Amino acid sequence: MLLTWVIVPFLFFGAFARFVHREGCGGHRRGSECCIWYEILDDIQAHLFDGGECGEDAHEALRLTFHDAFAYSPRHHVYGGADGSVMAHESEQHHAANEGVRDIIHAERPYALKYGVSFGDMIQFAGAVGASNCLGGPRIPFFSGRANYSHAAPEGLLPSPFDSPDKIIGRMRDAGFSPRELVALLASHSVGAQETVDPNKAGAPLDSTPGAFDGQFFLETMTKTSPDGVFRLQSDHALARDSRTICAWQAFINDHASMVSEFETVMTKLSLLGQDKSSLTDCSDVIPVPRAHGHREHDHHLKPVAFQHGDSYEDVEEWCPDMELPKIAPGHPPRAKIPPVPKS
Ligand code: HEM
Ligand SMILES: *[C@@H]1O[C@H](CO)[C@@H](O)[C@H](O)[C@H]1NC(C)=O
Repeated sequence: MLLTWVIVPFLFFGAFARFVHREGCGGHRRGSECCIWYEILDDIQAHLFDGGECGEDAHEALRLTFHDAFAYSPRHHVYGGADGSVMAHESEQHHAANEGVRDIIHAERPYALKYGVSFGDMIQFAGAVGASNCLGGPRIPFFSGRANYSHAAPEGLLPSPFDSPDKIIGRMRDAGFSPRELVALLASHSVGAQETVDPNKAGAPLDSTPGAFDGQFFLETMTKTSPDGVFRLQSDHALARDSRTICAWQAFINDHASMVSEFETVMTKLSLLGQDKSSLTDCSDVIPVPRAHGHREHDHHLKPVAFQHGDSYEDVEEWCPDMELPKIAPGHPPRAKIPPVPKS
């Protein structure tokens, strides 16, 4: 009798779980390699990203894709790339550049272990899902099947916000990225904040709209001053004025379609550094289609990029010499101080 009470619910839930599993498999054959990612998707959206938000964890998950993958340098004979090494090796987590991603590494790691997926896959998957939660965000393709084996990456391959454009552009070239691709990658700074550069301003966003994947970041780094409460990285400031990057920078201000599509392309390349794409399975269908409209009352449609109050064309320090000026509306970033991104 007791046994029945124990077993019956198990049978019931077992059957239910299998049913959900099949339903949640997005048209993939059960047992196909992509199936598991639908389960992980539901789990991380509910628990890691607090119900599918573009909050602190989503920002950090996106950043972590870069910190894992960019440990790739032909010049230094380092070929690990997007191999999960930053999650596997504590020594790598203690590199100064990884200080701001330790929390998200520890938050993602249990999901990789729970579902038996490799650390490299987990990092790229969570980053793509996190980015898709942002208003107007990208849908970054996801390939599954990276090996779980890795070596700890050597220190010094990740750019610092105090590096010169020469150094950053040179390091990007080493890893196979052009200056334009660098600018496209930096669209990621439109959804995020800083914690560690100035701990007294922890949570200060890198643009006035950290929940939206928009061109506001590119404009706000070109003007003399940033909106109150927004934090400008020295590297972003310099790249917004460098002859090799200024034109792409300016072009992305109000060309959301190119900003998103070039970001998706270059993020795909980043996520495959050190990997053989032909041995991976394309599970891109699992990545949610980002919303173009807010789902909560206070986030609205993706707005056209606009100057902060009081600013106009004269407040941009330098324009690209051979391009028409973009059309930019006057002031939507609120006059009030932009609040920090809350800890999640
Ligand atoms: C190229 C040179 C780059 C430099 C110097 C740089 C530097 C930084 C720094 C210093 C922060 C603030 C971190 C903190 O204090 O917590 C940051 C945030 C961020 N970075 Fe970069 N970054 C670069 C490229 C990239 C790339 C290629 C990506 C692509 C995924 C990326 C994604 C992010 C994101 C999403 C955040 C926000 C993180 C958060 O809100 O917690 N960055 N970056
Ligand atoms: C991946 O490697 C870690 C050790 O670095 C291990 O704990 C984990 O179980 C491995 N995962 C898989 C799927 O093999």
